[in-house]
Amino acid sequence: MEKKFVNSKKHGLRNIDLFERLVKKFDINSIENVLEIGCGVGILAAHLNKKYDMDVLGIDIDPEQIKLAKEHQEEKENLQFMVADATKLKFSENQKYDLAVSTFVLHHIPMWTEALSEINRVLKQKGYYIFHDLTYSKNLVKIFKPLSRKFGLYSAKDITEFLEENNFKIIYEEKARQFIFKIYCIVFQKNETI
Ligand SMILES: C[S@@+](CC[C@H](N)C(=O)[O-])C[C@H]1O[C@@H](n2cnc3c(N)ncnc32)[C@H](O)[C@@H]1O
Repeated sequence: MEKKFVNSKKHGLRNIDLFERLVKKFDINSIENVLEIGCGVGILAAHLNKKYDMDVLGIDIDPEQIKLAKEHQEEKENLQFMVADATKLKFSENQKYDLAVSTFVLHHIPMWTEALSEINRVLKQKGYYIFHDLTYSKNLVKIFKPLSRKFGLYSAKDITEFLEENNFKIIYEEKARQFIFKIYCIVFQKNETI
């Protein structure tokens, strides 16, 4: 059911609206290479390519999603889709991308810290990571710990602490109130190391 919802054009347009709001928060002109993690049917990836002429690779672990992305979006030299696992971005060299974005993906990944470590590895210094996802309270994370083998269970603090410990800073944050979980959008920037 979630797949049907996220694959809808309406949901894709919401992701585009979100990105357009965020554009003002960072230096869009510094972005050439983009990695979209868990791209689904590729609506956001295609938008970034078309509107900003960015070189975009969309990856998804589900071959069906990548098949749909290839059917619905016009692949070209600077817009590609590929089956890959966010926790093992073996195809990519270190420090390749200026921007990584994931919308509603990390809550599907039990080993979410591995996905964040991979994002760190493939992002350039001063590169950006847009996290947009469900987060849970610390108490819910504790209560539902037995489910953490199937889902990504984390609080917003878990995400920010992990990334801050790994050399990122927050440059923008917004949250929408929800009942059981909160949807957070956080833009991180990787610090420059000397
Ligand atoms: C809820 S959908 C969101 C799709 C899209 N980002 C959007 O917002 O419309 C989650 C997507 O993440 C993908 N996914 C789940 N685990 C993944 C992993 N380990 N690596 C890459 N993609 C993954 C799923 O196959 C699915 O397409």
